[in-house]
Amino acid sequence: MGTATAFGSVRSSGVTTLVLALGATWPADRKALVVEADPAGGTLAALAGWPAEPGLVSLAAAARRGAEPSLVFEHCQHLPDGASLLAGPARADQARSALGMLAPLLGRLGELDADVLLDCGRLEETSPVLGVFEGADRQVLVSRGRLADLQAVASWLEPHPAGPGSGLVVVGDVPYPDAEITEALGLAVLGHLPWDPQTPDALVAYPASDRRLRMAPLVRTARTLAEHLARDVTPLGALDELDEDLEPTGRHAPVGGWWWGAGCCKHGGPRPPRTETAPSPRRRPSEVDGRGGPVRVDR
Ligand SMILES: Nc1ncnc2c1ncn2[C@@H]1O[C@H](COP(=O)(O)OP(=O)(O)O)[C@@H](O)[C@H]1O
Ligand SMILES: [Mg+2]
Repeated sequence: MGTATAFGSVRSSGVTTLVLALGATWPADRKALVVEADPAGGTLAALAGWPAEPGLVSLAAAARRGAEPSLVFEHCQHLPDGASLLAGPARADQARSALGMLAPLLGRLGELDADVLLDCGRLEETSPVLGVFEGADRQVLVSRGRLADLQAVASWLEPHPAGPGSGLVVVGDVPYPDAEITEALGLAVLGHLPWDPQTPDALVAYPASDRRLRMAPLVRTARTLAEHLARDVTPLGALDELDEDLEPTGRHAPVGGWWWGAGCCKHGGPRPPRTETAPSPRRRPSEVDGRGGPVRVDR
């Protein structure tokens, strides 16, 4: 049996690109199934130049009177490397309605003999796939590394504590060390996906093993993360840096911590100045003063 991993974001972050890159680089000895379960609509069929069907809508019609999870494969198209991809419709109304009908079936995809990567898009209370996300074998939150994005993840986690084996993937530059993010969110950092504008579109045109893609930063990182997710659920390196009293795989609420205390919006304090979100150099919380302003530290 495979593992169902659900991916979601709180603010737009590149979650579809991450799931696409993982599907394209998933270990060849395992079967990968990518499901575009985003209630805001799918983007991958358009990116790949595929017809609108087969996909989520044709599956919803076929499954109207009940179906086994394996029916999903009859409605997939395929990435250049061969991974199956169930594409969502571009229109949000069609996506929401198909996902509303398919939620019970999508919740059973962990029964398949394939590793399932579910792109659940933006997480919201009203999302028709919130139950699918929370019921998957593991959950991966995807966020940009800016302060406001990480704060949004923290807000989401307060009423939605992460389950065992869950983690965070940070897209692009981030000024904070993994251990601090983990301590503040109660969520292990599984990996970092670089911002690599040349690559996302090529992932639907060429196999990830193609010489045009193989050494691209996004592909190399995705391959490492895919290998890791396919073999294990232990976070990639963040565990080494964790405080001993933090249980990385337990279900726990975020500890709040430094970025609330850094004078941010949650407590109505002044917003951090723009420099607070500067991607580099990496800055430790101790370098942020009580009013949220950066403090110069001579290294
Ligand atoms: N790691 C990345 N490197 C470069 N461009 C990216 C990356 N992730 C996303 N993008 C670009 O950002 C845009 C939105 O990405 P997408 O993955 O669709 O975001 P989301 O699914 O969170 O809405 C797309 O144009 C995509 O090519
Ligand atoms: Mg998306």
